Amino acid sequence: MSPQQKALVLPRKQGNFELSSRSIPSPGAGELLVKIQSAALNPFDYKIRNTDYVPHYPVVLGMDIAGIVEELGEGVHNFRRGDRVLAHGKFTNDFTAFQQYALTVASFTAKIPASESFDSAATVPLGLDTAVVGLYGDQLGASITPPWEEGAGDHESKKPIVILGGSSSVGAYTIQLARLSGFYPIITTASPSNEELVKGYGATHFFDRNLSGKQLLAAISEVTDDPIKLVYDAISLPETQSVAWELLADNGTLVLTLPASVKEDEGKGRRVVTTLSYPHTPENEELCSSSWARVEEWLSDGTIKPNKYEVLPNGLEGIIGGLERMKLGQVSGTKLVAHPQQTQ
Ligand SMILES: NC(=O)c1ccc[n+]([C@@H]2O[C@H](COP(=O)([O-])OP(=O)(O)OC[C@H]3O[C@@H](n4cnc5c(N)ncnc54)[C@H](OP(=O)(O)O)[C@@H]3O)[C@@H](O)[C@H]2O)c1
Repeated sequence: MSPQQKALVLPRKQGNFELSSRSIPSPGAGELLVKIQSAALNPFDYKIRNTDYVPHYPVVLGMDIAGIVEELGEGVHNFRRGDRVLAHGKFTNDFTAFQQYALTVASFTAKIPASESFDSAATVPLGLDTAVVGLYGDQLGASITPPWEEGAGDHESKKPIVILGGSSSVGAYTIQLARLSGFYPIITTASPSNEELVKGYGATHFFDRNLSGKQLLAAISEVTDDPIKLVYDAISLPETQSVAWELLADNGTLVLTLPASVKEDEGKGRRVVTTLSYPHTPENEELCSSSWARVEEWLSDGTIKPNKYEVLPNGLEGIIGGLERMKLGQVSGTKLVAHPQQTQ
């Protein structure tokens, strides 16, 4: 029998998670086998249970991987056995995070600098990719020139951006990339208890998430006279979308993380785009390869700070309670992280 590992498996649609054994896969060309030390949780991991998104059950979920390279596939030259890495998972059971070993795609894998732990690194992949694609994606984002590309200059400098939900994982990375792109002011919303957190990520102005669209518009008009041409709604619930829509100026772009409930109107030329963090899709491959090539440096020099995190108890089984807390809205400004190797 091939070597086995433990995995948290969802056996069927709307079923309950179960601990199970799976074979440890072998990496193909361009892939790595990673022993997962830390796996971070995302809202998608609880939402998926009630959707038709999963083509085949049983399914192993989890997109945020941090661990140690065990084996290299053919053609992988920039990593070595024993490297500490983070990676964005892929929606195929051998490539997901809620297990002890996973394959990763080399172009969406980066080394973890000495300054970061497995836990902090695991908070990065999906959240950062959602911010990257939402801001810089041509088809799945606002189509801004990435600041690391030649010729980007500082053309966004002094342009305002509003990021609704700055304390969410996606919001935190969007604030940091907005700073890198030179946006100013960087206006965000969250609960008052997270004001310092979002300012630490680079938000220049903070407002309570409970303000109405009208109140927020009035507050923002005290901060800038410039029209708001870009709103990134990291939360994208119907209520935040309608606030975002009220703030957005003519010819502006609203980036969403969930399907649109607002309607693009003709007269004002406003654009709405729902982003997709997945780097493995053809629309995102080139952009995400170029950002992933910079992840190690960004983490090392502090350009990108990982999310604040909390480690869950009980290895893989701890994920079940963590997802429940997220579903109930009980997690604020924090990414939950599990340690799969704790599972015996
Ligand atoms: N399209 C994609 O590819 C993609 C990728 C990633 C995520 N998503 C979706 O994007 C959303 C955010 O994901 P995430 O991982 O960033 O979530 P998260 O970190 O789990 O979000 C928790 C945060 O949401 C904030 N929040 C909740 N309601 C809010 C509101 N009305 N206004 C402002 N902030 C609010 C809370 O802020 P306070 O505690 O400060 O109140 C909390 O800190 C989820 O719906 C997720 O499914 C989509």
